[in-house]
Amino acid sequence: MATTAPALDIGALKGLRILCVSETGWFDTATVFGDIRAAGGAQTDQYSIPWPPFGRLHADNAAGFSALLEAEAIDGSVRRLLFDTGWNPDWMDRRFAEEGVDRLLQERRIEALIVSHEHFDHFWGIGSTLKHCPDIPIYLPEGFHPAGLAFIRQQGHEGTVITVPTGQPLVLFPGLALASFPMSTLLQVQGENVLYARLQDQGLTMITGCGHGGVLNLLDYARRTFAGGEKIHAIYGGLHLSPLEDWDSQRDEIVNSLARYGIARIACNHCTGRTAVEKMLASGLPVLRGSARNGSQTDLFLGNGDVLQLGSENAAN
Ligand SMILES: [Fe+2]
Ligand SMILES: [Fe+2]
Repeated sequence: MATTAPALDIGALKGLRILCVSETGWFDTATVFGDIRAAGGAQTDQYSIPWPPFGRLHADNAAGFSALLEAEAIDGSVRRLLFDTGWNPDWMDRRFAEEGVDRLLQERRIEALIVSHEHFDHFWGIGSTLKHCPDIPIYLPEGFHPAGLAFIRQQGHEGTVITVPTGQPLVLFPGLALASFPMSTLLQVQGENVLYARLQDQGLTMITGCGHGGVLNLLDYARRTFAGGEKIHAIYGGLHLSPLEDWDSQRDEIVNSLARYGIARIACNHCTGRTAVEKMLASGLPVLRGSARNGSQTDLFLGNGDVLQLGSENAAN
């Protein structure tokens, strides 16, 4: 007889503030994909492409993705995590300084770096984090390459590295779980970490870097796995629906399906694609507009310096 595993109770948070340090993976998509084609195409080893910090190829086009999470426990205490560390160290240094992330790292007030996946725009800026806090614990997804692990050490990391086992979500603290999903995508990258937060009285929030595993798969996983997962309140991050701005009927289906989850707030980064966000808005999905400041090029994405505040009586919901 088939049995169903009991839903995992991850506890609850009172509030969660997600600061978009940078949603801008890069400034010009054609340039990035031109560089990839010139290097040998989609199956190329990303470490063979001389982008920053390994070289200066189109350095002005390189930015990165990173978000600061400030989780408020039921007792009011606050814990912070950095979710991804961007790409170009020059850009990340600037954004970390503008948002005070550099100081939080120096003061050991950010307790871990979560790396969503190995893609250059989410991970190659790790030097900008480690120079302020070399002993920060780092969580990786399963599937990291030896070159990525060596890069972490070479950038001066002195702390622990935890690889999240696929299929065994880690509860980092009450109300916040980290799950690693198998996937295989552009430039030989494998595995992706996704965060799931549970806010008291609000249901779940899913936080992704790129969402290469497929947004519906990642949401359905939460529904199956976590107590209270039937109510998805919000999504933050990359949904990877039209990163190249192409579109087809299958993607229309995904947007139509998303509408059936009853999600209250959706905040996207550049990895989602502008076309996808326009389609979501047209279908009536509750996409939050950004302020298009600090290098963000459009208000379709929750922009650099913008905040998604969830729960907590003080929240500007
Ligand atoms: Fe990615
Ligand atoms: Fe991405």
